[in-house]
Amino acid sequence: KPLIFSGVQPTGNLHLGNYLGAIRKFVALQETMDCIYCVVDLHSLTAQLVHEDLKDQTRQITAAFLAAGIDPDKHIVFNQSRVMQHAELAWIFNCVARIGWMNRMTQFKDKAGKDRENASLGLLAYPSLMAADILVYRATHVPVGDDQKQHLELTRDIAQKFNNDFSDRIAELGVGVEIQMGDETVNGFFPLTEPVIGGPAARIMSLRDGSKKMSKSDPSDLSRINLTDDADTISKKIKKAKTDPEALPSEIAGLAGRPEAENLVGIYAGLADTSKEAVLKEYGGQQFSVFKPALADLAVEKMAPIAGEMRRLMAEPGHIDSVLRNGGERAGVLAEANMKTVRDIIGLLQG
Ligand code: TYM
Repeated sequence: KPLIFSGVQPTGNLHLGNYLGAIRKFVALQETMDCIYCVVDLHSLTAQLVHEDLKDQTRQITAAFLAAGIDPDKHIVFNQSRVMQHAELAWIFNCVARIGWMNRMTQFKDKAGKDRENASLGLLAYPSLMAADILVYRATHVPVGDDQKQHLELTRDIAQKFNNDFSDRIAELGVGVEIQMGDETVNGFFPLTEPVIGGPAARIMSLRDGSKKMSKSDPSDLSRINLTDDADTISKKIKKAKTDPEALPSEIAGLAGRPEAENLVGIYAGLADTSKEAVLKEYGGQQFSVFKPALADLAVEKMAPIAGEMRRLMAEPGHIDSVLRNGGERAGVLAEANMKTVRDIIGLLQG
């Protein structure tokens, strides 16, 4: 049965890229699927260990989930550290995965920089915890932005190696399910999770530089639209966004070599829930002096209510905490059921 899992780090400045690339998809998927959405507080320790605002930032991501329309009664919303089985399975996956796999992750290379020997072990093992987040529920689909693709490939590699290394035990215990691998069907415990990436907004770029992705850590606040920005700030940032002097083309091919123009068209398409082609059909031939105000109005219309609702929710931290507590309890039950089987498969002495 399909099960959706995804996570967002509480590292501040949740932005339009997080919203269009991930959170909006979470909201759409909840209509037809069972979903688990997690604020991954343990992951955020890899960026900043001593973190005075961690509780507040955890609440803020939760507020964004709720403000965007995720229903915590029908689905599960919680913060990762409440369910210790994530860390337990991550340890097992650290023993399944190979150091070489981790060393190849572009996110690790970017974040570790030149002084790799001095990066934390947690930063290197980050994808192993991410695989555990997903697989502790045996989730089948993970909605994310394009930047998480490599981590999800690694999640599949870990699942596949585990299924393979323990295939005899899985068969003996009768706990496997049929898993489709290309043309072959194998018996395994963990599914080979599919990423849900795509659409016009899978990779939103900085408003100041079309070659860099919009990011929580960009020092320039003008580079991103924060989920907490008010209407005036949203408009101002769009009007100041970098562009080129040409009019918009009427065909997609005309966006080649124009990353800033392509980004704004993608943002418009994401917000309007349409395609870049459709946006160019409407605005092809128009100057940015026409397109930017239209985009600013659309962004304000879609984003400002979310910011308002987030502010209202943040004024009631007790409510947010109870959502996370309740979600954590429900997630814990599901995770423990799978971990019991994992401990059995591995042969850990229990009971
Ligand atoms: P994080 O917290 O950096 O980002 C949260 C989500 O936002 C997407 N995203 C973007 N999408 C489009 N354009 C952008 N500029 C942009 N920037 C960010 C990310 O792809 C992500 O979907 N490793 C994850 C968190 C995580 C996770 C997981 C995700 C931990 N465990 C398990 C899925 C499943 C991360 O750092 O996301």
